[in-house]
Amino acid sequence: MAERKYDKISAIARRRGFFWPSSELYGGLAGFYDYGPIGALLKQNIEKVWKKIFIAQEGMLLLDTPNVMADSVFQASGHLEHFADPLVTCTDCNTNFRADKLVEEKLKIKTEAMGVDELNGAIIANGVACPKCKGKLGEVYKFNLMFGTEVGPGEEKRIAYLRPETAQGAFVSFERLWEVARKKLPFGAALVGRSYRNEISPRQGMIRLREFSQAEAEVFFNPSDKKHPCFKEVEKEELNLLTIEEQKKGKSEKGEKFTAKEAVHKKIIKSELQAYYLTLAKQFFNRIGFPDSSMRCRQQLSEERAHYSIDTWDIEIHSEDFGWIEVAAIADRADYDLKRHSETAKKDLSVTIDGKKFLPHVMEASFGIDRPFYLLLEHSLKAEGKRTLFKFKKKVAPFEAAVFPLVDKDKLPEKALDIYNMLLENNVMAQYDNSGNIGKMYARADEIGIPICVTIDHQTLKDDTVTVRYRDTTKQKRVHVKKNYEILHEIWEKD
Ligand code: GLY
Repeated sequence: MAERKYDKISAIARRRGFFWPSSELYGGLAGFYDYGPIGALLKQNIEKVWKKIFIAQEGMLLLDTPNVMADSVFQASGHLEHFADPLVTCTDCNTNFRADKLVEEKLKIKTEAMGVDELNGAIIANGVACPKCKGKLGEVYKFNLMFGTEVGPGEEKRIAYLRPETAQGAFVSFERLWEVARKKLPFGAALVGRSYRNEISPRQGMIRLREFSQAEAEVFFNPSDKKHPCFKEVEKEELNLLTIEEQKKGKSEKGEKFTAKEAVHKKIIKSELQAYYLTLAKQFFNRIGFPDSSMRCRQQLSEERAHYSIDTWDIEIHSEDFGWIEVAAIADRADYDLKRHSETAKKDLSVTIDGKKFLPHVMEASFGIDRPFYLLLEHSLKAEGKRTLFKFKKKVAPFEAAVFPLVDKDKLPEKALDIYNMLLENNVMAQYDNSGNIGKMYARADEIGIPICVTIDHQTLKDDTVTVRYRDTTKQKRVHVKKNYEILHEIWEKD
């Protein structure tokens, strides 16, 4: 069998420090991964690009809220009631399976719309047995995906949960945010952090994690105005759209290309606001390295939609091993969240603008970070001759430049360290390496996707010139170290 790209990437990831299974020393813990020293930098850079768009460009309010929240939050949010997957357990070997996925796989039918009773019926009618031991499967039941915990000792003990989405941090702080936003709509709150879902059987490595990172923007708006003041700036952007209707006709590939403006005019996307954030999401993925051709925007079927959403468009990126993978979702949450928190907390969260009292609605732009991280590895990995390299964009590459002395003698390391320090002083994220021959150092830099290598040789000592070598072409150029900061120019040049 041909080696899966996932296996190839996992091997490089372990060797070079991108990621590996967590708690590996004790056999690992399914659904949990560590980011190694190179992966942690790459991930941080993806988050930096996201923050640049949503915090700097869009002016959203960045929040940093706890991962553990009281049970009342999730009573109100509906997660205690609805956030569950159908589980079935083998009565012989006790292995657990997601019942919908199992039925889908065995009977080749769509299961999104099937409830527990229908799944049970399908298993019995078709004699679906345990895929592992062929034993009899038990009754299907709903398994809540939240990790529960307890806070405090004894009598003071409170039930709490690890958040399944960062979003709730914004909703429960709405009154404070409303003050900070100077009582004007629309405004956005942005959260970047970990979320937790006790997935039934996570078998897709980095694609389905039990602890994962999200970047979420919750935009509070007046429901009588679903326009966006900056829509004109994005209206010409093209989106590959796959509507519910097209999916029902059996179309399941890329979708049709529309500009954001056409999509709103033709009512394919119901509001300017939703189209704006879908386009912004697409631009984010473009900026970190995914071309339009690798993405589609798919409207979620009503049976797939989360309990809080009235309409959701996903951005999906294609994976060689896993097919289309959801990486972001733009959900119209309407007044669901503030209404439920108003009722549960018995606190009126409505606002008054121009004499009109109403509950703000929420448009959510929710991004997973781990999936784009993995997919970026998949899409950027190239094998060229004997070289293996990741063609990351400069913005997200773990390091912007590597600095090497050609040999570890003749005062070249000292000169290389001077140049390395000059780069650091100019805020270049540089890596210094003098641990092998030049070929090996280039190969190592390629394999962690460093776009530019700077080599210091004997000539450097005479005329202050260095060799700049480009990862993508292996072409080399002699540039002056100080004059006009030529190295910096090469490093900062856009890609
Ligand atoms: N906040 C949306 C989600 O976590 O799926």
